[in-house]
Amino acid sequence: MSEQRIAVVRTQEPDTTTSTTGPTGATGPTAAGIGAGAVGGVVGAVPDTGTGADGGAGTGAVAVAVAHPNIALIKYWGKRDEHLVLPRTDSLSMTLDIFPTTTRVRLAPEAGRDVVVLGGRPAEGEALRRIVTFLDLVRHSARLPHRAVVESHNTVPTGAGLASSASGFAALAVAAAGAYGLSLTATGLSRLARRGSGSASRSVFGGFAVWHAGRPGQDTKAADLGSYAEPVPVADLDPALVVAVVDAGPKAVSSRAAMRRTVDTSPLYEPWAASSRDDLTQMRAALLRGDLQVVGEIAERNALGMHATMLAARPAVRYLAPATLTVLDAVAQLRRDGVGAWATMDAGPNVKVLCRRLEADRVAAAVREAAAGGAVHIAGPGPGARLLPEGGR
Ligand code: PMV
Repeated sequence: MSEQRIAVVRTQEPDTTTSTTGPTGATGPTAAGIGAGAVGGVVGAVPDTGTGADGGAGTGAVAVAVAHPNIALIKYWGKRDEHLVLPRTDSLSMTLDIFPTTTRVRLAPEAGRDVVVLGGRPAEGEALRRIVTFLDLVRHSARLPHRAVVESHNTVPTGAGLASSASGFAALAVAAAGAYGLSLTATGLSRLARRGSGSASRSVFGGFAVWHAGRPGQDTKAADLGSYAEPVPVADLDPALVVAVVDAGPKAVSSRAAMRRTVDTSPLYEPWAASSRDDLTQMRAALLRGDLQVVGEIAERNALGMHATMLAARPAVRYLAPATLTVLDAVAQLRRDGVGAWATMDAGPNVKVLCRRLEADRVAAAVREAAAGGAVHIAGPGPGARLLPEGGR
């Protein structure tokens, strides 16, 4: 695929919520306006028909995309609409430069069903259902009925609270949009990725990204259009995230189920959501002035608050393990020793420690000792999701 074809961007996006209408007329920042590290444009693996309509353009098309996970510094926890995957609060993340997911989508007009292979094994159960539902959405937008063959390779331990669904659905959104000939802006791709997994909306972008919750009480189309991620301006922070894997096994409760239970039953949920809105405002200001200490302090309190909401759910959801707390102790000790280090945890026991890149080796050594044999990785800010040229070959 030539560079020129990769740069195809259109500002009128196909509607991803309804099948019968054409472009909605919604506009967003084009990929071209996003800058380095963001998605490299949207992208048809096949010539863009301009309508997404079936003219044979997508038949047999192949597209391969790569995306990286992101770690939220202001967490997404709680949906206001499960079908559209609309969050209750804005969230903010850093995309990593490690653990990419590579996904290949090939249209298979002759096939009667989608074939999905994850890490070399046929997908089944809930994982398969989610991907087929996502492909249905893409087919609906592209007005192309063909089934697809999806092959995805994750380099991050799946289901361990390490954002594998973020890189997974961001890569799938970009590859499926390419294969089906949907020409979306980066904003449109972010909305599409959101439907697979909320956090995936942020992995469309490199560096720091904010995912807007959008306004409640709108009709379906307006609500869908209002919720997308975009890059966040930051000063030179030179950040690193040290990832301590204390348990790489799959989580006992899915984030989807845990969020629902927290929103429905935790008396701490609404106070956390309110404080998270303030956290976001303060963090954006700190990012802009390059104040990593304030960014770290806000990230740690926001994550601990999120886990507090879960612990207060009925019955409680507890992702934090004894080893998690040991690593948190090590992070507190680093601070007492004068090293800037702040922890965040997602839907799993693993800990990500924000620090300066210059101090990342020292932080990693302290965390490795505390993690008692668990793997430790150092990540910097990574790139946005993108199509690989020539179908990844
Ligand atoms: O996108 P999901 O359903 O995997 O939810 C992810 C939620 C957290 O990782 C816990 C927080 C976040 O904002 O990424």
